[in-house]
Amino acid sequence: MKIKKAELIITAAFQSQYPPEGKLEIAFAGRSNVGKSSLINRLVNRNGLARTSGQPGKTQTLNFYNINDDFRLVDLPGYGYAKVSMKEREKWAKMIEVYLKNRKSLIEVILLVDIRHEPGEHDKMMYEWIKSCGFNGIVIATKADKISRGNWAKHISVIQKKLGVEDKDFIIPFSASKKFNVDEVWDTIEQLLEI
Ligand code: GTP
Ligand code: MG
Repeated sequence: MKIKKAELIITAAFQSQYPPEGKLEIAFAGRSNVGKSSLINRLVNRNGLARTSGQPGKTQTLNFYNINDDFRLVDLPGYGYAKVSMKEREKWAKMIEVYLKNRKSLIEVILLVDIRHEPGEHDKMMYEWIKSCGFNGIVIATKADKISRGNWAKHISVIQKKLGVEDKDFIIPFSASKKFNVDEVWDTIEQLLEI
């Protein structure tokens, strides 16, 4: 994918703040700190575009990015951040639910999980939610630089089993820092967009 333009359109908490429907959207979900914002930056090759942090809970709104005036990538707020109050969690769930259920332009929600760890209950729930919305159920296994390539397959099997992913090929090992499989993720996105 040739990136001619990548810009933040808006950070939104409520439906009324979303940009108008029209351009197709692909969203990234996953627990706090898994690397959603880093993935977007790597895909568009712009380090500071989406704000990242070593501290979980950085992205707290839905952030819509315009890519090439053609389609959008959407950074969703992360879940599973222990220090968040019950009220905050409910707010998060509502924010995601409203977006997933009502957004006509949304063609896929890609789930990110850390390649090193067996997905947790929240990841499982999120994956089920994604599947129940009718999406394909593509998973990106982040931080693949943290384990040796020889161990990828083993970790992918664990993720596949825990989440109940139909096909191993739906799970893409990825590293934002080492740029592993950037083209593979773009190929998947292009297939989804049919471009
Ligand atoms: P929230 O906004 O809190 O939901 O987190 P996020 O999922 O957007 O994570 P973010 O992209 O901010 O990354 C969290 C931390 O993980 C940062 O310190 C990143 O530098 C680090 N990180 C992200 N991707 C990778 C990767 O591929 N490899 C390694 N080693 N670290 C990564
Ligand atoms: Mg983030």
